Amino acid sequence: MNVGQAYRTGRKILEDAGVDSPAFDAGCLFKKVFGLSLQERIIQSENEAGMQKTKRFLALAHERAGGRPLQYIIGEWPFLDFTLEVGEGVLIPREETELLVRTAAQMLKNVEKPVIVDLCSGSGAVAIGLASLLPDARIAAVEKYGEALSYLRRNIEKTGFREVRPVHADVFSAEEARRFPALDAVVANPPYVRSGEIASLQREVQREPEQALDGGEDGLAFYRAIAGLWLPHIKPGGAAAVEIGEGQAEDVKKILDHFMENVRIIRDFNGFERVVCGIRRHT
Ligand SMILES: C[S@@+](CC[C@H](N)C(=O)[O-])C[C@H]1O[C@@H](n2cnc3c(N)ncnc32)[C@H](O)[C@@H]1O
Repeated sequence: MNVGQAYRTGRKILEDAGVDSPAFDAGCLFKKVFGLSLQERIIQSENEAGMQKTKRFLALAHERAGGRPLQYIIGEWPFLDFTLEVGEGVLIPREETELLVRTAAQMLKNVEKPVIVDLCSGSGAVAIGLASLLPDARIAAVEKYGEALSYLRRNIEKTGFREVRPVHADVFSAEEARRFPALDAVVANPPYVRSGEIASLQREVQREPEQALDGGEDGLAFYRAIAGLWLPHIKPGGAAAVEIGEGQAEDVKKILDHFMENVRIIRDFNGFERVVCGIRRHT
């Protein structure tokens, strides 16, 4: 089988399985196995593909066809200007989350050596993203679950942003929150899906850890905990920014309004309300 035939066979497996973007996914899997970009694949399409690599590529196409997320199969995914390791046990970083990082970085741009806590850190996308945009920041990345925490540690190593400190802790613990008494900012992309809606999510999303998605009965449990336990530790004039799900902006704004002023809702590149942020009130 030549390169072109191997690629088309893999793409057909994805098409037949109803995968959303079969050409893109097949191209990514092909690159992972053969190391060929789109242009190289086209130029070399008549070359012999090789039995071993073809078998491996088609095995990955079948994994993808079975609903395993592309990002988990590839094992890494880009976020801002860096690449993060991902796999079962950690949420795949979403492009929308770059808005949270940029919003928080913008709010902190005039603060010297800002002390920041990233709650529900997962892969570390937000914490490492902030470290990349705010070189003198000191950032604690709080994560409760072991598997996600090991991705977080590896991603700090891999990207070299050692000013990010992984913290194994529960966001719902007042005792943990008290260990961070004078913060310049709290940022978070917490679980925010209503418990009852998890079963109806896209099959790929259901392969992501439930604890990364489940925001409690009304989807707002984490925002209440963050507001009640963590926002009081922000210095007056400091910042808070959280990512939200569809339809949650007004509820989250109300929750933040108790502690913060100038609370704003920011839309993402798709026009969805995605981030709520505010400034810690001077009391
Ligand atoms: C929506 S994911 C966000 C991951 C990452 N910040 C991102 O934006 O890609 C939420 C994360 O919160 C973690 N988590 C869930 N419950 C937690 C808790 N009680 N305390 C701390 N982290 C928690 C999950 O393991 C998951 O990594």
